Amino acid sequence: MNVDWDNFRTIWLKKGDQKTVQIIDQRSLPHQFVIEDITTVDQMAVAIRDMHLRGAGLIGAAGGYGMYLAIIEDPDSAVKAAAKLNATRPTARPLFAATERQLAALEGLQSATERRSAALDVAELIANEDADHCRLIGEHGAQLIKELSEKKGGETVNIATHCNAGPLAFVANGTATSPGIQAHRDGIRVHFLVDETRPRNQGASLTAWELDSMGIPHHVIVDGASGHTMQTGQVDIVMVGADRVARNGDFANKIGTYMKFVAAADSHVPAFCNFPSSTVDWSIPTGAAIPIEERNPDEVRYIQGLARDGRPTDVLLTPQGSPAKNWAFDVTPARLVTGLVTERGVCKASEDALRGMFPEKASPSRRVSTR
Ligand code: MRU
Repeated sequence: MNVDWDNFRTIWLKKGDQKTVQIIDQRSLPHQFVIEDITTVDQMAVAIRDMHLRGAGLIGAAGGYGMYLAIIEDPDSAVKAAAKLNATRPTARPLFAATERQLAALEGLQSATERRSAALDVAELIANEDADHCRLIGEHGAQLIKELSEKKGGETVNIATHCNAGPLAFVANGTATSPGIQAHRDGIRVHFLVDETRPRNQGASLTAWELDSMGIPHHVIVDGASGHTMQTGQVDIVMVGADRVARNGDFANKIGTYMKFVAAADSHVPAFCNFPSSTVDWSIPTGAAIPIEERNPDEVRYIQGLARDGRPTDVLLTPQGSPAKNWAFDVTPARLVTGLVTERGVCKASEDALRGMFPEKASPSRRVSTR
């Protein structure tokens, strides 16, 4: 599969058709590259809930475009549409930030034309900001990797990541892997350890697909191998993304992230969380208040892939009678985090440091969110 990574986007308005939003249907990757047309807010809500698209930043952009589609269908449907979109997935903050931003922009606008034009502007703004902020995260985080490379005398820097917080999880560029990708482009030798990320295997299917198609060295490992790789000196730095960050620097990310940070702390491996400011929920003091999504247990009981004859297949892994639990995220406390990489630079994982980085967003009057 040839991908034009310089112009890559995960969501866009269809060329010549302002009423259709196009997305990459990530359920088909890494085996097929499928583009899906979305023309209604209902379709967008299904695409988010059933994970045709996923990843915090992309869910946010989809929320912005979903609101735009709703306004095309019915200029007075904004509040209902926001509620519908907000009900799809509870953890990632950018979705709620996007619907709140659309509602604020639409307030007071009377004519259908005005409302439609404002909703489109905001949707495009959210998408463009996401891509741009991720690019900046790549540039700031690449400095950390360059320093490690210098310390190692130019030897390969081994980066461990979790789930998929690459370009596919955002509008473009990504967060967790964007510093390593940027460093690779700058001529630094990097190697990624990509864990599978059960149950939906976003690491094995999506992060590996991104790195493979960019020609960046990597190995896929099982989730349980993370601790071993750190304990045996095979990891120089851990970089993950975030779905929601509390104002003290605690953060929610894909289930298994907490264990990775515990192992990193025990092995003295620096571990960073990379995210754009749309991910921060300034209304919550600690990660304990972050809602943790629970998904269908069948995602744990079955695994999906291609059969040896090339057919897409679901395989049951457990006894028919064994129930499963499927928490989609966990919370990593700030005390285990070496630093945060944002679009404005790198800071400590603490309330003071985050406020210092985003003084305008941390003011008490902004500390209200719908979710
Ligand atoms: O359930 P997902 O795939 O939407 O989860 C999001 C993730 O991929 C991760 O938690 C990621 O590391 C942060 S989102 C950019």
